[in-house]
Amino acid sequence: ARLAVLASGRGSNLEALLRAFPPEDALGQVVLVISDRRGAPALQKAARAGVEAEYLPWPKGEGGRACFEEAAGQLLRERRIDLVLLAGFMRILSPQFVDQWAGRILNIHPSLLPAFPGLHAQRQALQAGVRETGCTVHFVDAGVDTGPIILQRRVPVLPGDTEETLSARILEQEHLAYPEAVRRVLRGEVQP
Ligand code: GRF
Repeated sequence: ARLAVLASGRGSNLEALLRAFPPEDALGQVVLVISDRRGAPALQKAARAGVEAEYLPWPKGEGGRACFEEAAGQLLRERRIDLVLLAGFMRILSPQFVDQWAGRILNIHPSLLPAFPGLHAQRQALQAGVRETGCTVHFVDAGVDTGPIILQRRVPVLPGDTEETLSARILEQEHLAYPEAVRRVLRGEVQP
């Protein structure tokens, strides 16, 4: 299966996916990386791995999203992408776009959804005083961090944790969770 990753920033989940799904993999191969940020580290990581890396602008104001989605949709079709993986993609896609990819678009989020959706999930967990949090890979639907859950990995919240230490502990699990979730979807073991 041909995989595309959409990433806005650092791209550590992208790196985990590139390692798990290299060009010669029988199950899936990351063949395209798209970013809405010019010069995103994610684009450099893709290029270094020899994978096509495309910057597509998300212009400010009304019509910005439509502009991005038009270009992204065309590229995804041209490259015959089977599965779209959001990995630190910091934009909300339209319900129409998400519907076109229903069951074929995944996201990773740094909390045990449905707890702590949206921005700063790790900070939200600390502020709530929970003793356990983690990460979730889920199918994307029209909501923000909603959609059927594929898998979760849990981590403890430890005394003295800061947003940084907790985020790092969760991130380690993200890098295991995302490839595993993609494998399950590609093997047809889970459906939305
Ligand atoms: C991750 O914590 C992911 O769960 C969240 O954004 C962060 C992206 O990190 N959606 P990276 O760009 O994959 O390093």
